[in-house]
Amino acid sequence: MTEVAEQQAGRLLGGQIESKLLTTFFVLYKTARILEANNNAYTNQLNNFYSAFTELGKTSGTIILKTFSGRYFVNDKMVRFNDSGLSGAASVVSEWKKLGIGGVHFEPTVTKKQISSFMRFLSKTKPNEDNLESLSDALKQHGLDNVTLLAARDEGAGGASLDEETRKMFRKMARKTFFQAMDTVQEVVVNTMHDRDINISRTKRVVHSLIDQITRDESSMLELAAIRDFDDYTYAHSTNVSVYALTLGVRLGLDRARLSQLGFTALFHDIGKVRLPKDLISKPDAFDEDDWIQMQSHPTLGAKTILRNMKLDIHVARAARGAFEHHINSDFTGYPYLHYKKREPTLFSKIISIVDSFDALTSGRVYLKKSLTPDVVFKKLRYQMSIKFDPFLLKLFNDIIGIYPAGSLVLLTTDEIALVLTNNDIDKSCPYVKIVGNREGLLKTPLWVDLTQPEHSERKIVRQVEPERYGLDIKDFVLKD
Ligand SMILES: [Fe+2]
Ligand SMILES: [Fe+2]
Repeated sequence: MTEVAEQQAGRLLGGQIESKLLTTFFVLYKTARILEANNNAYTNQLNNFYSAFTELGKTSGTIILKTFSGRYFVNDKMVRFNDSGLSGAASVVSEWKKLGIGGVHFEPTVTKKQISSFMRFLSKTKPNEDNLESLSDALKQHGLDNVTLLAARDEGAGGASLDEETRKMFRKMARKTFFQAMDTVQEVVVNTMHDRDINISRTKRVVHSLIDQITRDESSMLELAAIRDFDDYTYAHSTNVSVYALTLGVRLGLDRARLSQLGFTALFHDIGKVRLPKDLISKPDAFDEDDWIQMQSHPTLGAKTILRNMKLDIHVARAARGAFEHHINSDFTGYPYLHYKKREPTLFSKIISIVDSFDALTSGRVYLKKSLTPDVVFKKLRYQMSIKFDPFLLKLFNDIIGIYPAGSLVLLTTDEIALVLTNNDIDKSCPYVKIVGNREGLLKTPLWVDLTQPEHSERKIVRQVEPERYGLDIKDFVLKD
């Protein structure tokens, strides 16, 4: 990822000052409700907010505070903020929803006295009697015309309701995290090749970013995992497997510690391949028997490498077991073959074996040397279910990927070509898409469309299309907005 792109992604997240502004805003809001304006505790809270307000105002001028879908934004930067904590923001925002308020816009000219009047005014509103229009009029009458209440956005249902702006921002952040994960895998691979000790703390940090990203917006990550033609597929494959495994882990309700271990295990499941000859891994033809014998040693090599080159802790122990078991199969017909002590593979190994096979088969880079579409892959996986895969986990993963997975290209009844962005939980045949081309060719400005909306009823998906057939490179659509 280029430095410029990384800087852009970094600019999308708020830091300490944005977080302080939000906390002090909501604390002041709640204090205004219970204390008089001349009360010392109230004045202190007002001063706290005003200090954050002026500090941020020095660089930004205008200050816009917004909330949408449980997320908080200050000047369009998303802020990590615990709204159920002391700030009491969650209860304020639920009242705002009833009033139709989605945020507040402060002009740079607003004084401390005006902020106080605004807070006292707003905290006295009654969700059953007032609404955004009546409140906006009343604000003007109070002479507060440099503070504006912003309308709440329609949050709709399901993940497809994110608006274009928010979606673009999430996609940029997802890219940053995804490429960081790929860099980390590369670093570990290079260290392994030279038999150097591997520092696992960076990897753990990257896994935490992956978890944050997936819990916030899994679609953007799934879209990146769907890219099939990265130059170095080895690094992309490990990252994809980690993304898919974490998505499944989040749906299973694993806690953060377990998710961290799962993501870490998945990133290193194939590390044993580093010990195999390079020309075997990149062999363009199908494997012969000799190749297979060599290939089948990678789980054992992987477990040994992890235990030898990483400092032992719970993550490392789980990763070693995951590397060892990810091709072993539920009925032990896989490899390595165990003569005795056949212990049931762990949950992590079961998850990784499913998502690993899915990624390998859809990519066409590993084993089969021919890429298959996700629906064909799921048919294959289901066929092998009784011997290889856990049926419940497979079903869950199939539900996550959906009929038209994020990152796939589809043809519409309007002869347009679109990139699938998010599956719609209510109707899986109508995802949220980005239309990238039509009969005339590629669009200069892609069209972001929610196919569940009545105004797009003429747009139905005909089928999934392979980008190569149209001379298209999926990277152009996933990595650029
Ligand atoms: Fe493997
Ligand atoms: Fe793999």
